[in-house]
Amino acid sequence: MSIVNCQLTMVDLHGQYLRLKTEIDAAIQNVIDSSAFINGPQVGLFAAYLADYLQVPHVIPCGNGTDALQIALMALDLQPGDEVVLPAFTYIAAAEVVALLGLRPVLVDVDARTFNLDARLLEAAITDKTRAVIVVHLFGQAADMEPILSIASKHHLYVVEDNAQSLGATYTFADGTTQRAGTIGHIGTTSFFPSKPLACYGDGGALMTRDNLLADRIRMIANHGQKTKYNHQSIGCNSRLDTLQAAVLDVKLRHLDEFTAARQSAAHLYDELLASCAPKLLLPLRTTSSTHVFHQYTVLIKEGRRDEVRLKLRERGIPSMVYYPLPVHRQAAYRTLVRCSGTLPVATALCESVLSLPIHTEMTPEMVQYIAENLVEIVQ
Ligand SMILES: Cc1ncc(COP(=O)(O)O)c(C=O)c1O
Repeated sequence: MSIVNCQLTMVDLHGQYLRLKTEIDAAIQNVIDSSAFINGPQVGLFAAYLADYLQVPHVIPCGNGTDALQIALMALDLQPGDEVVLPAFTYIAAAEVVALLGLRPVLVDVDARTFNLDARLLEAAITDKTRAVIVVHLFGQAADMEPILSIASKHHLYVVEDNAQSLGATYTFADGTTQRAGTIGHIGTTSFFPSKPLACYGDGGALMTRDNLLADRIRMIANHGQKTKYNHQSIGCNSRLDTLQAAVLDVKLRHLDEFTAARQSAAHLYDELLASCAPKLLLPLRTTSSTHVFHQYTVLIKEGRRDEVRLKLRERGIPSMVYYPLPVHRQAAYRTLVRCSGTLPVATALCESVLSLPIHTEMTPEMVQYIAENLVEIVQ
């Protein structure tokens, strides 16, 4: 397809569907034929398959990624007023569930080049009220877990990984051992929102843990706090992955490595074609400790030109997105509620310079080239 007559989009869910149509249609039809729409066998099969893929003993599906975070915190039995540390530059879900549960979000700044929680700043945020840290693996790359785990262990904190954006990324420890992002802390969470690395056709989410007791609590909380039917041991919620979504996810998980490879190859081509723009435009940094699955390809546009560049791209038919335009501590609902550890200058500055370019599983080298060439022209 020529780039001239093809509509550029941030993600191409329809194109991906067409490529997988035979498998997806059959999986959906199976569920409809059985009419086991809630807790059909596909839900358990998918959870087992994902557990195997991630090499983690427990995957517990739930309704969405925000529920997964809420259930994770509920399973940790935190008390009102307890503090939970999280990055200031992230999607709102983590701060939201902390606040909803009557806990206090404490914001820590992020690293200017990886966008992930800056482990060097973590310890200064901890007080005698701190009980947990939520680490968000942003844009496709795992945060630096090893120092975070060691600080958390020193202060007896739980570590929850919000892995909505980096499913499939692998973290390497200093001794060379590896673990999948989301399976390293006490509990990992993820979202299967349609644009996510592993995505369904509606809402979906899951929790991951290596801890048998936590897994039991998570299962119970996600199912109305029921230990057995009509025997409610704790206050829970109703959060399920429906069977249709599980069937779609089961098909898509078979293709996840190929999806990741497609995103990574688009990212590498962007890197090559945009390299000449430095230092006006900074490319995403790969760390040595994590693979990058490129949920987003996010560049930094310097000299206060981000919004102007974005507008000019739009005039040339090229979409882009700002993830995120405001840090958590500048959001109206959170301004007075959060405690900020320091002045959070990096999070604040990133909101003015980040720009995410189209990246998805259906991207052709021609599309990347068209976007990159236009961006180079605009930036220089
Ligand atoms: C980092 C992060 N956490 C949590 C969520 C929430 O997931 P969901 O939309 O499935 O509730 C998202 C979704 O955008 C996310 O990007």
